[in-house]
Amino acid sequence: EVCLQTISYDREDVKKLFPQRIPYSNKGSYGKVLVIAGSKNMGGAAYFAARAAYEMGCGLVKVITHQNNRDMLLEKLPEALLECYHEETKEEEISDMLTDVVQWADVIACGPGLGTSPTARSLFETVIKEENKPVVLDADAINLASTLSDNIFQKNKILTPHLKEMSRLIETPVATIQTDLMHYADMAKPATIVLKDARTVVVSDEKRYINRSGNHALAKGGSGDVLCGMIAGLLARKTEPFLAASLATYLHGLTAEEYVKNRSSSSMFASDILDMLSTILP
Ligand code: APR
Ligand code: MG
Repeated sequence: EVCLQTISYDREDVKKLFPQRIPYSNKGSYGKVLVIAGSKNMGGAAYFAARAAYEMGCGLVKVITHQNNRDMLLEKLPEALLECYHEETKEEEISDMLTDVVQWADVIACGPGLGTSPTARSLFETVIKEENKPVVLDADAINLASTLSDNIFQKNKILTPHLKEMSRLIETPVATIQTDLMHYADMAKPATIVLKDARTVVVSDEKRYINRSGNHALAKGGSGDVLCGMIAGLLARKTEPFLAASLATYLHGLTAEEYVKNRSSSSMFASDILDMLSTILP
């Protein structure tokens, strides 16, 4: 087996690696992200992921979510386009809508707070058939994948499991995975995987990254949803999957380092990660 070098980033790398904005450009230059997230009783995840994609500089974000989250999203993120479903929406209607929106998107992020309802499952099953554009699978998308026999470890997929989600996905105990994160992350090749922990690792076909930014301020509900949207936002800007995943992970950590400079690590919220992004991006 070839011995792969493991890379890390520091603050200097961000200027070199983050995609530049061009004076003569328009929203089409920065890509379109489709976020499939949020469910009847979990709306915040859709907001966190969608706003994170916008914060990373993509041009347009469309959200597919449950009708219950409509007013909240219109209020908190009026920049987002919306497609909502509810319990009575017919399967064909959802599938026609999804076909159009998947065509429209440059990148798809699926899973934060999505739940495992029949609609969530059918959205997920359509999305994983997409093979020609990057698809980020997080949270419930990974849980849904764990119940399928289909191989989702394809080149255009970027998976962002935490240790428990990884444990379900590869049917290996958390304690075993913890003995060698890189080794177990390798199992997702040729997909790109972000195996999340206090020291997150990112692995793709030929590259390995270990994250050295961040702190325990990030150990709070919603911070994973933000990371998922950040990766999608960078992908929309045509950053290749390994770089999008590793750079987003690094920047996500940096927000926490900046936050604790003059505030308590106990009081950082997912919304604070979003607010900090504009202060750390080049
Ligand atoms: N140090 C550094 N980074 C940390 C630390 C820490 N001590 N703790 C957590 N993080 C980072 C992780 O690396 C990851 O990027 O915070 C993020 C947490 O992501 P998730 O574990 O996905 O948590 P989150 O999504 O916010 O949890 C909410 O979503 O995935 C589901 O099942 C999950 O119900 C849960 C919900
Ligand atoms: Mg999560």
